[in-house]
Formats: sequence, C-alpha cells, structure tokens
Amino acid sequence: MLDTKVTELLNQQINKELYSAYLYLDFSNYYYDLGLEGFGNWYKVQAQEERDHAMLFVQYLQNNGEKIVLEAIDKPAVELTSAKAVLEEGLKHEQYVTSLIHGIYDAAYSVKDFRTMQFLDWFVKEQGEEETNADGLVKKFELFGDDPKSLYMLDSELGGRVYAAPSLVL
Ligand code: FEO
Repeated sequence: MLDTKVTELLNQQINKELYSAYLYLDFSNYYYDLGLEGFGNWYKVQAQEERDHAMLFVQYLQNNGEKIVLEAIDKPAVELTSAKAVLEEGLKHEQYVTSLIHGIYDAAYSVKDFRTMQFLDWFVKEQGEEETNADGLVKKFELFGDDPKSLYMLDSELGGRVYAAPSLVL
C-alpha cells in the first residue's frame, strides 16, 4: 500500500498526462492546418508519448494494488495564436509538468516512499529532456522561422520524428 497523498497525486498525474496528450494533439492539428506538417508530426508523436506516460502511472498504481480513479480530461485551454507562440506554450507546459512530477517526488520523499521515488526518477530525467527539446524548438524557430526556406528545412527535419515506446518498463 502506498501513502494516501502519494496515491492521490499519482492518480491526478494520469489525468495531467492525458491532458498533455490532448493539448499536444491540438498543437499538432493546428500545425497541420497551417501546412507545417513536420511540426504537426512532431507534436503528434509527442501526444503519443504523453499517453504512454499516463499508462506508466496506471501500471505503477496497479502494480502496487492501488485503485485507479479516472477524472474528466479538460478541453485544451491554450489559445493557438501563431506557429511560434504554440512552441512557447509547449515549453511552458513542460515546465508545469516538471513542477507536478517534483511535487509527487516531494510527497514520496516526505514519507520515505523510496519505491515511488525510484519510479519517478525516470520521469525527472524525461522532463529534463522534454524541457530541453521544447526550448530547442523555440530557439530554432527564433533563428529560422522568418525565412521560408529555412522554415521548410526545419519542418522537414521535424517530419522525421518517429514514435518510440518509452524506455521505462514496469
Ligand atoms: Fe509527460 Fe511531457 O510530460
């Protein structure tokens, strides 16, 4: 049995990760509508990764005999105003998710729940990578976004991203 507060936060994180998937699917659709299919692909793959994250939290709770409580997933709440603004929103969202993961870690730490801390280690690292990726996209867009040829090249590069299952197996 896990601590009640830790279990509650892990359950909430399922919803947050599914919301992230939903949000990034919205981003993806926005880019497809603009004709930036590479950006659309990049965020579609990102949405798949977020769904995987949710499933890892589900699996972890099940492995520990805890009850899963699913809540409604909110409608994506970010206004999509420009190709660059969406990337900035993506970075902001990842920073928010990092704060959530750290919050669960903190709760686990305070009750000496070493098992959950070890489970979350993967997510702490993953969030570092996701923030770096999101920040990299903003920077690349700042450098190349105003030049159509460069934007075309960047879009082509992002179109090459392929989905890979998460490295964490529970
Ligand atoms: Fe699952 Fe991008 O946080």
